[in-house]
Amino acid sequence: MEFFADTAETNEIAELIDLGMIDGITTNPSLIKKSGRDVFQVLTEICQIVQGPVSAEVVAVTAEEMVAEGHRLTQIASNIVVKVPLTLEGLKACKKLSSEGIRVNVTLCFSSNQALLAAKAGATYISPFIGRLDDLGMNGMNLIEDIRIIYDNYDFNTKILAASIRSPLHVNESALAGADVVTVPPAVIKKLAHHPLTDKGLQSFLADWEKTGMKIV
Ligand code: E4P
Repeated sequence: MEFFADTAETNEIAELIDLGMIDGITTNPSLIKKSGRDVFQVLTEICQIVQGPVSAEVVAVTAEEMVAEGHRLTQIASNIVVKVPLTLEGLKACKKLSSEGIRVNVTLCFSSNQALLAAKAGATYISPFIGRLDDLGMNGMNLIEDIRIIYDNYDFNTKILAASIRSPLHVNESALAGADVVTVPPAVIKKLAHHPLTDKGLQSFLADWEKTGMKIV
């Protein structure tokens, strides 16, 4: 499973890249706003740090304008993936951009029928939003499971990119459900490595080693 970081904070991205854990980045208009930086400046910087796909979202509402914005965004760097919303206009824009060889991430997916349409429109990625479904008292993970079955039934190549991930449990369940990619906020990525028994075990190993007086290097 590929790991993307869901952030537009370049310092956080640099830290994660250093860990060797990150295959790509997803951003959205809210994350760009949160960064407090110019959209082109911040995306350029992210693309300089990250080799893998960097999703940059359009903000137009008509297909024609989305395509124009998509073209502008892809001028930033060759690893930009254009993110469009799952509306009829967004699907139209997806079809057009995909036919030109531009990679498209169709975002704000909340149903398996929407995911089916995105695959038919040639999307490279479909982003089902798990946490936002859970927020409504629904089970977001069921959506990943359903999309996996549908895509496998028809051999669609569109990658399932589990989004709106809020916890380590979401990551674990996405992996079990067969998501191709998971996009995770940096704070959650760090939590994945943590286990209290690891900390306790390491403390005791190091205390015993100290008593031996030996050195490895
Ligand atoms: C995905 O591409 C989105 O940027 C993100 O996962 C949305 O997450 P949220 O529901 O926590 O805002």
